This record gives sequence, structure tokens and C-alpha cells, in this order.
Amino acid sequence: MPIELCVFDAYGTLFDVDAAARAVAAEPGQAGFAAKWPALSADWRAKQLQYSWIRAVTGAHADFRTVTTEALDWALDAAGLSGDAALRDRLLALYRNLGVYAEVPATLSALRAAGLGTAILSNGTPDMLDAAIAAAGIGGAFDAVLSVERVGVFKPDARVYHLVGAHFGTRPDAVLFVSANGWDAAAAAGYGFATAWVNRAGAPVDRLPWRPDHVIDSLAGVPALAVRA
Ligand code: LAC
Repeated sequence: MPIELCVFDAYGTLFDVDAAARAVAAEPGQAGFAAKWPALSADWRAKQLQYSWIRAVTGAHADFRTVTTEALDWALDAAGLSGDAALRDRLLALYRNLGVYAEVPATLSALRAAGLGTAILSNGTPDMLDAAIAAAGIGGAFDAVLSVERVGVFKPDARVYHLVGAHFGTRPDAVLFVSANGWDAAAAAGYGFATAWVNRAGAPVDRLPWRPDHVIDSLAGVPALAVRA
């Protein structure tokens, strides 16, 4: 089945989730944070995802802004920084303006020039996604921005992946789903999408019942997959 539509995960795939902590570490007077930010950022992301899965499995949904804040509070606590309210506020503000990976604008332009549809499918709230998209200047690059808030459950619940067909009327195998999260790419493959896992870190493939169809090291590889598939 030819690919008609490329659907992107947002956080970690288009938006650099380490950018907030990295930016604070580069600010004047933050020498002490410079040594701590990599672990804090990794904890923040890991807890954010864990909390999203646990809320999905237990039916205890809260939006991604809440989950992101709760995960940051855990990460600050683990780093011995839970009393620093200004740091917490600064990191949360920067999370609305993460910036995109360098190859994102050219990738989106190439897909649209080839006549393919493009969309985001993300755990993020509409407000978080709109802010990050506007800050990155890629607002005109998507046919739709689909948030899990439409169904009130996080990935990898199939109701989230169903949002794509419900919006576009596409068959799953006409969709190339692109994620840098191995578990998201795997679950989307299980759902029936063609999938590309963006494995920037050279990580091992996730041991799950499903494997991504393609493994690429940056989003620059997406147009070749979508156009030839
Ligand atoms: C998202 C998370 C999984 O954007 O990164 O959906």
C-alpha cells in the first residue's frame, strides 16, 4: 500500500526533550546545575513516560501537562533540588519552547513537496503542542495536530492510534508512523501502521511483540521511506 500520510510523535521525535534542562545549564549562574542536568533530564523523561503508562493502564488519566509536572517534581527531588521553585518554573516554561531537531524543517518540506500528508499524534495537550509548534516556527507544516486529549488516554492505547484514521479516513497501512520512542514505534506497528523508529542513540530494539518496519538514525531518512514505500 503506498504511503499517503506521515504521522509524527512529538516529544523526543520532533521536539528535543533535553533542551529545557540544557538551556538552563547554559544560563549565567547555573554552574552547579551544569553537572546535574543530564541525569535530571533523563529522570524527568523516564518518569513522565512511566506515569503516562501507569495512568493509561489504570484508567487514571490526567493531562500531559500534569504528568510532565509530576515527573519533574520527582526528578528535582532525586537531584536534591526540590526546594528550588524558580528552577521548577523555568524548566516548565522552557518545556513549552523546546525547539526541534535540526533536520525537522527540511524533512517536513520534502514530504509536503512530494504530496504527502503530515500530522502530529502526541500525548501532549493541544495547548502544549500549539506552543511548541509556534515557537519552532513549523505551524504551517501539518495537516492536523492530534492530541490524546481527544480520547483521554495515553499511548500506546489503540484508541490513540485510531485518531489518525478517524480524522483522515486513511487505512493504517497507508500511514507511516514515525517515533523516536521505541515502544511507541513498536505499538504502532502492532496497530497496523507502517512504522519508522528514529534510533538517534543507537539503542537496542525493544523486546516487544512487534518490531518497527524501519530503523533510521534521524528524521532525514523519512522522505525516502515514505515516497518509495
Ligand atoms: C508524545 C510522547 C510519547 O509526544 O513523546 O506522544
